[in-house]
Amino acid sequence: MEKLYIGTNWKMHKSIKEGREYTQKLKEMARNKNERMQLFIIPPYTSLSILREEMDSSILLGAQNMHWEDEGPFTGEISPSMLKEIGIDLVELGHSERRQYYNENNVDLNKKVHAALDKEIIPLLCIGEKLEDKELGVSEESLSVQLKICLNNISTTQIKNVLIAYEPVWAIGAGGTEASTNYVHKMHDHIRKVLLEIFGDNGYDIPILFGGSVNRGNAIEYLTGQNVNGLFIGRSAWDLEKFEPILNDIEQFLQQK
Ligand code: 13P
Repeated sequence: MEKLYIGTNWKMHKSIKEGREYTQKLKEMARNKNERMQLFIIPPYTSLSILREEMDSSILLGAQNMHWEDEGPFTGEISPSMLKEIGIDLVELGHSERRQYYNENNVDLNKKVHAALDKEIIPLLCIGEKLEDKELGVSEESLSVQLKICLNNISTTQIKNVLIAYEPVWAIGAGGTEASTNYVHKMHDHIRKVLLEIFGDNGYDIPILFGGSVNRGNAIEYLTGQNVNGLFIGRSAWDLEKFEPILNDIEQFLQQK
């Protein structure tokens, strides 16, 4: 696959002011980057409108969640058309924190993937096994179930606009454990196999990003996997002093490829 997707989920971090400062600097840094590196940022809702006005199309702008209905009595929710109205490029769906704390399930996520595609917003679908799945040796089965339900009835044409983020739940966040390179590559190969099973050869076109304790020490190793098409980073990308060296390493990696 030609492109590498490199992006960050800010989770519930950064004020509007902090977000604007970050984005201004990232834009500067991105000016001379390799065209094969597609950057994206996923700020909290409150920053989206203002950042949209300040950003060009070189960095994709994403939202952290959305409802599947366009409007209705769903207090506290944001709809696909609301995101479309402010020019959002992509939407993160099914992050493990949303599954864990807000009971998001695969069936509802399938509705969200359809709703995003209908509005021409790129869904970034997050999947990942829990620690207990890994310990019981059913990680692959867990990933297959999530993919098969979340992508149910998505056509082979539509699937070309979907991004998948593989994020093992046990590897995410401050309490997470770094996954070994071999393990990550094996799971990405499995995900590709399932995508090919569902979508035939179109399954080759779906970028699969890795996330969970990505840092400067493991980023390039992860990217050497044949089916690792990008990185989805939390903590190591929130501070540009940490993120910039990772981006520089990726730049070098792309030049050598
Ligand atoms: P960390 O990189 O902080 O583990 O977070 C990853 C993540 O949750 C991206 O969505």
